[in-house]
Amino acid sequence: ASLFAADMTVWEKSTLNSIIKRKELRVGLEAGYMPFELKDKKGNIIGFDVDIAKEMAKELGVKLTLVNTAWDGIIPALLTNKFDIIMSGMTITPQRNMQVNFADPYIIVGQTILIRKDLAGKIKSYKDLNDPKYTVVTKLGVTADFATKKLMPKAKLRLFETEQEAAMEVINGKADAFVYDLPYNAIFYAQNKNKLVFLDKPFTYEPLAWAINKGDPDFLNWLNNFLMIIKGDGRYDAIYNKWFKS
Ligand code: ARG
Repeated sequence: ASLFAADMTVWEKSTLNSIIKRKELRVGLEAGYMPFELKDKKGNIIGFDVDIAKEMAKELGVKLTLVNTAWDGIIPALLTNKFDIIMSGMTITPQRNMQVNFADPYIIVGQTILIRKDLAGKIKSYKDLNDPKYTVVTKLGVTADFATKKLMPKAKLRLFETEQEAAMEVINGKADAFVYDLPYNAIFYAQNKNKLVFLDKPFTYEPLAWAINKGDPDFLNWLNNFLMIIKGDGRYDAIYNKWFKS
């Protein structure tokens, strides 16, 4: 191999090549988005993304290392090679796609709303929340944050570091509505049925995908074909059913 990066082949530079050489797949994620990545009682990170990452590492014949990373630093951490891939329920957005490459979507979700029980009937969709008398809460830097600013510009918006802190504001009566991805809200609602109303019709279209560094066609090709294969051979469905059917 040449000492000069410019002389390296696409393959020599590929993250796929370095994963194989290192015998380790490093996955960046932020544990807190159930059922994609969350901590169990012992503090282990588990979830839908984690099980797919395990399957990925198995196919690559390497060990898996999970790198828990705060959401607002997750793209910068990928760009500075703290890990090889983001598998963290990340929505493909054109803005993020200017910084990273995305594999094909592995699931489609959308934004939904949990409201305070006493607002039942008054708030029927996000449109009714677009009013300065309502306080919307969500997590900083997620698509729920962007969608609220765009579609409910008149509502008061308060942003939190974690999903859990934001959602608890509605439970505690300090906010009127929590906007977030459907899968998270479905679980949070199931855990707090008597305290909330769930407006479960998604009002955005959000393909979730794995993000990698730009300029790496070999890794991207491997990932897309891996996804196609596990979707076809039952492995994806088995993992999906474990986390989404209960
Ligand atoms: N899908 C949303 C987004 O991309 C939320 C993802 C949050 N993921 C997490 N692991 N906390 O902005």
